[in-house]
Amino acid sequence: MDQTKFDQTKVDAAFLKLDAHKTRLQNTRMRDQFAGDPTRFGLFSVSCGDLLLDYSKNRIDTPVMTSLFDLAHAAGVESKRDAMWAGEHINFTEDRAVQHMALRYQGDSEVVVDGLDVMPDIRRVLAAMKIFVGDVRAGEITGHSGQAFTDIVNIGIGGSDLGPAMVTAALVPYTRADLRLHYVSNVDGAHMADTLKGLDPARTMFIIASKTFTTDETMTNAASAREWLVNSLGDDAVQDHFAALSTNIPACKAFGISEARIFGFWDWVGGRYSVWSAIGLPIALAIGFDNFEQFLAGAGEMDIHFRDTPLEKNLPTIMALLGVWYRNVWGFSTQAILPYDQRMNRFAAYLQQQDMESNGKSVTAENKSVSGATGPIIWGESGTNGQHAFYQLIHQGTDIIPCDFLLAVNPHEMMGQHHAKLAANCFAQSEALMLGKTLEQVLAELDIAGMDEDRAKQLAPHKVFSGNRPSNTLLYSKLDPKTLGKLIALYEHKVFVQGAIWNINSFDQWGVELGKQLAKDLLPNVLDKAGAATHDSSTEGLLAAFKTRQI
Ligand code: F6P
Repeated sequence: MDQTKFDQTKVDAAFLKLDAHKTRLQNTRMRDQFAGDPTRFGLFSVSCGDLLLDYSKNRIDTPVMTSLFDLAHAAGVESKRDAMWAGEHINFTEDRAVQHMALRYQGDSEVVVDGLDVMPDIRRVLAAMKIFVGDVRAGEITGHSGQAFTDIVNIGIGGSDLGPAMVTAALVPYTRADLRLHYVSNVDGAHMADTLKGLDPARTMFIIASKTFTTDETMTNAASAREWLVNSLGDDAVQDHFAALSTNIPACKAFGISEARIFGFWDWVGGRYSVWSAIGLPIALAIGFDNFEQFLAGAGEMDIHFRDTPLEKNLPTIMALLGVWYRNVWGFSTQAILPYDQRMNRFAAYLQQQDMESNGKSVTAENKSVSGATGPIIWGESGTNGQHAFYQLIHQGTDIIPCDFLLAVNPHEMMGQHHAKLAANCFAQSEALMLGKTLEQVLAELDIAGMDEDRAKQLAPHKVFSGNRPSNTLLYSKLDPKTLGKLIALYEHKVFVQGAIWNINSFDQWGVELGKQLAKDLLPNVLDKAGAATHDSSTEGLLAAFKTRQI
């Protein structure tokens, strides 16, 4: 890959400047910055249409942001972004282009990958999906015995599961009660067994979602689903009850899936970026094709924003730079994703794959070890539940955890004060993290409460909040399909910018291979097959203990 766009000397110089800013700001408190500048919110907030990013509650000032933007320029973020859009093989270890943006492109121009305009193929698959979705939802495509489908089970894992499962849950208000979507990913038979419990084979459709159509978990689950169906409806029913989403069309056919039920995509769509492709079919079945198109359009809007907006006003870039500031300069190793939306409770899990599979890397584009930290640990849970679990550590623990709060202004359900309380809690948390509470404040409170001085002195340190803890807040009108598309694309591009700054390949995932390979090697040991390999003493000990406990 052409790395001339990444200027190591300038990147190093930008990091040195940022180190100096950190030293300068070490004793600066955000609460004083807010008190000293009533325009701080306006200065450090930015919008993309209806989506507002407030990043004013961060350990920053204008010189910090200037140096962060200098870093982005030095790392060649803009030229790398352009290279991605131009279809260059920026996934250089797999020698592939990265063009998931084409899947949600709303314009009329060509999008060329490897010398070919990919838009006609994309539109062809979308058109086929639209017909299929319409017919299933209308009960015109039925099961083998002529009954309309009521339950659809998506079988996939990683990118072939997390995106559709998260989006379906997030968009429940757009789904129909008489067409239920289920997601089976884990090779643990419990996942399939629990899902199938209560389902009627005659009214159940299976979608096998796998880019490669070789992933062991998915193939194992697909075989069990097939057996369950065949046991009840016979072999002939398979083609009426199975569909496939894959780049590996011959393997789908070999499984027995009819050509009309195979929806393809392409190798320039990474697994964790595939929710926009045919992998999104279960979403379209759940929310209807028009809503699915809105979902794509929202992501398309974010693409235009990311591609055309100067870095200084560019949401994904700003979020990425703040992440780099904390990860590399302050040494904060995790990032919490905290949507104040119960239906977004799989969003953090989705972003774990998107971010950690992308940027959990240690080797640069020049095949050298990276010199600093790369991808943070992503975790989180929806509010307010998390407040009663792990927020204690976020407020008073020894680690500083930058947080992203997400909140829709308008709920789907108007139920008394529920949403007002949800919003108040969301705003309260970022305010509390920023402000903290000093020892003097605590002592004054205890005094007013009438506590005697000795007891107050003992208790007070436990009630102090150090504050100055950073967060972003993303605010949007409503969690509709378009907004969700926009939010996901925002995080995708954030991850891209961080990968560009760390000079790593954000689009491969070699780190998942060793475990897969060893699991294959270990299966004969677990099954007690002759000729199975020997292992280290711990693994052998575990295998022996496993066998002695088998009932
Ligand atoms: O976990 C590795 C991985 O390759 C992911 O990147 C991918 O999303 C997942 O497995 C599933 O792969 P496939 O869609 O090919 O079954």
